Parts: sequence; structure tokens; C-alpha cells
Amino acid sequence: MRANVQFLLGDKPRVIEDIDPTMTVLEYLRGPAHRTGTKEGCAEGDCGACTVVLAEPDETGEGLTYRAVNSCIQFVPSLDGKQLITVEDLKARNGQLHPVQEAMCSSEASQCGFCTPGIVMSLFAMDRNTSSDALEEGATSDHIMDTLAGNLCRCTGYGPILAAAGSIRKDSDDKFAAAEADVLRQLNVFAEGEMMSVRNPKRSYFAPRTIAELTGLLSDMPHAQIVAGLTDVGLWVTKQHRELDTLISISAVSELKEISITEKHIDIGAGVTLSDAHETLASYYPDLDEFIRRFASIQIRNAGTVGGNIANGSPIGDLPPAFIALNATLVLRKGEATREILLEEFFIEYGKQDRQLGEFVERVLVPLPRDDEAFACYKISKRFEQDISAVCAAFRVRVEDGQVSEVRVAFGGMAGTPKRARSCEAALFGQPWTEATVRNAMQSLNGDFTPMTDMRSSADYRSLAARNLLMKFYLETTDQAPEQRVSEMTGGRHGHIG
Ligand SMILES: Cc1cc2nc3c(=O)[nH]c(=O)nc-3n(C[C@H](O)[C@H](O)[C@H](O)COP(=O)(O)OP(=O)(O)OC[C@H]3O[C@@H](n4cnc5c(N)ncnc54)[C@H](O)[C@@H]3O)c2cc1C
Ligand code: FES
Ligand code: FES
Repeated sequence: MRANVQFLLGDKPRVIEDIDPTMTVLEYLRGPAHRTGTKEGCAEGDCGACTVVLAEPDETGEGLTYRAVNSCIQFVPSLDGKQLITVEDLKARNGQLHPVQEAMCSSEASQCGFCTPGIVMSLFAMDRNTSSDALEEGATSDHIMDTLAGNLCRCTGYGPILAAAGSIRKDSDDKFAAAEADVLRQLNVFAEGEMMSVRNPKRSYFAPRTIAELTGLLSDMPHAQIVAGLTDVGLWVTKQHRELDTLISISAVSELKEISITEKHIDIGAGVTLSDAHETLASYYPDLDEFIRRFASIQIRNAGTVGGNIANGSPIGDLPPAFIALNATLVLRKGEATREILLEEFFIEYGKQDRQLGEFVERVLVPLPRDDEAFACYKISKRFEQDISAVCAAFRVRVEDGQVSEVRVAFGGMAGTPKRARSCEAALFGQPWTEATVRNAMQSLNGDFTPMTDMRSSADYRSLAARNLLMKFYLETTDQAPEQRVSEMTGGRHGHIG
């Protein structure tokens, strides 16, 4: 095993040994790397002041993809094999500012400046990942809102920042374009080495590259903490000050990063990030497009994985209710043995999942859509973006000869686990798909759940929202769809049925 972390810091190779494997990238930058441009605001992935960009080979292997991430909740070993770009790297050798920095200056989009490096890095990733053609007229407002949803500014006001973002035009000859082939070559050299394992006297961190290596490590160390995108685990360290002794990351396991379409399923490896799953899921289930756009921020979606969102067992995770309504199956693996269970059966009770010691989530199988069925999912949260759900609802209904022939209703935020609403389903099944049936089923929901009151919402609000979301879904499958807050959501997006 290789006992160091290898990466590029800007254009310079770095090999780090003897570090605490849970040192955050932000601590590394502001400490040993003496790069204080990157700021700490919240240390929990919310404010974006710590945003940096990681470049990795893209899916063709011939170019780079640039991902903005929150350095405050990434550990240094997660840099292995990547290029880390910080705000210090942006200007040219002759001192010329990058077009993104120029745009921020000329729009007067900075006041105290604390959020500015993070905003610049989010916009830099947008600039790098967007073609010149797409930026010819400037980025669309949707694109800008998505790009900046994870960056908070407490003093400038967002007007000038959005104006700066809209004024960016791509400089196809900037130094990053010129250096891409060389960076790719160096990253490919890193990829050739052995599995990384770094340790200090307190803890160790392993990054297997194949399922065989992963199962071997888990069989030797079944109590090790599995980690993936670190968007939950990072906070255990920065906020809860937990001491983790052995960490096994699944992020470099190539088989777990695959997403494929089989005859019946969308087959998603547990290590696929929310960003990478987004387009495929949305192409089969258009309702998941906006739903995933509302999942945290780009920075979190670039790191957080589909498997992590399920395995963490959170009652307010966004994907589980949607996937349960879609009748998804989970594939778990321990050594050579794999088993499949319905996703809904994975969640036993609050904090308890059907996962054995040394077992890990390998894949999730989401059935492909069928004709004559409608699917929708909704997220209710206090803020539109970058907020955790108070209630999440997902509905899938099939109507044949005017009657409900299949139905699945699932909620998050209503119980200690993501859960199906069996009484509600029973009240809908076999009935005509009419308002009267739906009103009756809304009452049945009261028997399905006894939600709690917490900082996100009162129990009464949750119950009322759950009932009303069912009616909203029904109306959207007819020609009586209510007006929506968001323009793209208007007008019968789930198809008419019945
Ligand atoms: C600012 C912020 C906003 C967020 N917003 C949302 C949101 O809007 N919606 C939402 O649902 N969540 C949200 N989250 C929570 C989190 O980002 C997601 O749940 C994410 O998908 C977790 O994935 P990860 O890869 O980062 O998991 P990690 O943090 O790496 O791991 C989380 C847990 O899952 C386990 N685990 C991970 N992968 C596997 C595997 N393959 N097999 C077995 N166990 C595994 C780990 O052991 C750990 O217990 C947010 C988090 C932050 C910090
Ligand atoms: S410091 Fe706030 S997101 Fe990292
Ligand atoms: S300029 Fe002060 S926080 Fe944004």
C-alpha cells in the first residue's frame, strides 16, 4: 500500500505523509499550505466560504471535470489523485485576473470580501465546465442560481453577485485550458499506483480501488468506519469532535462509481455522486430534476453519494422516499456474498438499518418508468435551496380502466425512518382516480404517521403538508394543476392519467 496522499496543489505535485487523516482540506490549506484565501464560515458545508475546486479526469478520460466542493468537510486523503485549485491559483503569471475575478470586480460584487473567494471558486467551476458557446450570451439565471445556491453573502446583497455571474464570458485560452493536457498526464500517473493508506498514531484511512480490495479490508476490519463523500461524516469531526480511528473510503472504488441502464433498472453504484446521478435520473423521471437541484448545493452534490444518502438512515434524507415510491431495491455486499432487499425494508427504525457488520451498500436498482403511471416527488423546506426537508413526499400511481391498479406512497420527515403510507395506499388501491377517492386517502394518512415537532416544522404542519401534497399530486395528474412557484414546474409535468 502507498502511505501518502498524492495530488496537485494548483500546478505543483504534493506528496503528504504523516498527517492526521481527518485533517480537513480547509485546515491543511490555511495551515501547512499557507493558503489563507480560502475562508472558514460555518465549518459544516452551509455557507460556501471554504469552496475550492477539484479537477479530475472526465468520463471520456480525455478532459477534466471541475467540481466545487466545501473544503471544510473534506478530509485531506480525499484529495488523492486530484488537482486542488484554490483562489490563489486563478490569476495569470503576469498578474492578470481570471475573467471570473474581473467580473466580480467590475460588478462591485464584494464588500467585506469574506465570502468572495468561495463565490469566485463556484463561478470558476461554472466557467470551466461550460462551453464557450453556452456562455456566449452569459449563463442563464437558472444556471447561476444552481451555481451559487451554496454560497452565502452577508453584506454585498446578491444583486451585484448575480450580475457578475451573468457577465462572465469564457476566455478559451486561459491558463487552465492551456495546462489541461499536462494536468491530465500527471493525474493519470497518480492513478497507476497502489491503494492509498495513510495513518498517524491515532487513526488510519484506506482508499481501496476495487471491490475486491474493499471487501478484503472490511473482512479484516469489520468495525472500520465506511466513508464516501464525507458530507455527513465530515461534520462528525468538525461539529461533534468525534474521534474516528479507522476509515475505509469507498470513493475510489471504480465499480461503485458506475451508473448503467439494464433491461429493467437504472443501476446506480453506491459511490455515484448526486451530481453524477442527476442527469440520468432526471432523464427517466423528470420530476427528479428539480428535486435533486434542491438537494443541498452543488458543492454538497459534487461530493455526497447516492449510497451515503441511503446508508446514513436519515429520516429526512431526500432520495429514500422517492426511491421507495419507485420500488427500488438495494444490493448489499459482504465479501463475495451479495443480497438484495427492498429499499423500504432497509430502514428498520430510527438509527437502525438492515446492514451487518462488514457489509456495505453496493448498488441501488431503480425500476425504469412504465406507461400509464404517474410519479411525482415534493420537498417542503424553509428555504428553497440548500435546506434539509421538513417533509418529503413521493407518489407513484398507475391507473387502468379508470381505477388505481398500483400505488406507492412514501414520505420522509413523518416518522423515524423514510416510510411507506400503507393506509393511504389501501384507500387508493382499486378505487377510481377521483378527487373523492383522494380526499378519503388524505384522511387515511393521519393513521399512517404521528410526526414530531422540531426546529424544521410542527407536527401539525407536517401532517397538513402531507395531506395537501397528495391532493397536489392528484391535481397535477388532471387538467386542474395548481400554479407553481417555479416556472419550469408549471403545467402537467407528470402527465395526465385517468
Ligand atoms: C450543508 C448540507 C446540506 C445537506 N442537504 C441535504 C439535502 O438537502 N438532502 C439530503 O437528503 N441530505 C442532505 N445532506 C446530507 C448529506 O449530504 C447526504 O445524506 C449525502 O448523500 C451523504 O452522502 P456521503 O457520500 O457524503 O456520505 P458520508 O458522509 O461519507 O457517509 C454517511 C454515512 O453513510 C455511510 N455510508 C456511506 N456510503 C456507504 C456505503 N456504500 N455502504 C455503507 N455505508 C455507507 C457512512 O458510513 C456514514 O455512516 C446535507 C448535508 C450537508 C452538510
Ligand atoms: S466553511 Fe461554511 S461551507 Fe465550509
Ligand atoms: S462580501 Fe461580506 S460576506 Fe459577502
